[in-house]
Amino acid sequence: MWNERYGSNEFAYGTEPNSFLVENAKLLTGPVLSLAEGEGRNAVFLASLGLDVLGVDGSEVGLAKAHKLAESKGVSIRTVVADLATYEPPANCYGSVVSISAHLPPDVRRRLYLLVERSLKPGGIILLEAYSKSQLSRNTGGPNDPDMLMTVADIEKEFPNCEVILCQEIEREVVEGEFHTGLASVVQFIGKKS
Ligand SMILES: C[S@@+](CC[C@H](N)C(=O)[O-])C[C@H]1O[C@@H](n2cnc3c(N)ncnc32)[C@H](O)[C@@H]1O
Repeated sequence: MWNERYGSNEFAYGTEPNSFLVENAKLLTGPVLSLAEGEGRNAVFLASLGLDVLGVDGSEVGLAKAHKLAESKGVSIRTVVADLATYEPPANCYGSVVSISAHLPPDVRRRLYLLVERSLKPGGIILLEAYSKSQLSRNTGGPNDPDMLMTVADIEKEFPNCEVILCQEIEREVVEGEFHTGLASVVQFIGKKS
């Protein structure tokens, strides 16, 4: 389904980075692991700040476009095609982990997020934004399956070893390409590995 979505010349979520990421990029240090990176808009932005970024995604078509985007902006990124249901990042390796609109089933999230915590160096940051369960009643983007949508309570439970810097549900105007546009309910999380 994702290879099909990324099959056109257009960028499904645009080429501009996610605005929550932009607002908080000053908190991030490298290397950065970007989960479900898609067509590269966020990894390319982080690379333009001088950060070493590894983007992981299940779609090889998306990641091929990510490299083209990087080339067109004069930066370089690293990518890996992998299923996040089985992906195992190395321990104690990353300064930051970024997860933007990476909607995954609860069992996959629970497994992955513990590994994400383990993959951070002490003091490392996880930054996450995803559509919340309240998004179900809107037609402005995100999955239709409530299990793939998040709540503040879920996130706090799923990152048990992080100091919470920010964890909130807000409504915001999202303008991120054809599939994510309009007033939306999102959860935003920033945690720090102690
Ligand atoms: C809504 S897109 C967001 C892409 C990107 N983070 C962005 O903000 O532009 C969701 C991405 O999650 C990826 N994805 C979904 N399930 C996955 C899985 N189990 N393993 C790897 N990638 C997955 C898809 O390939 C897709 O690129």
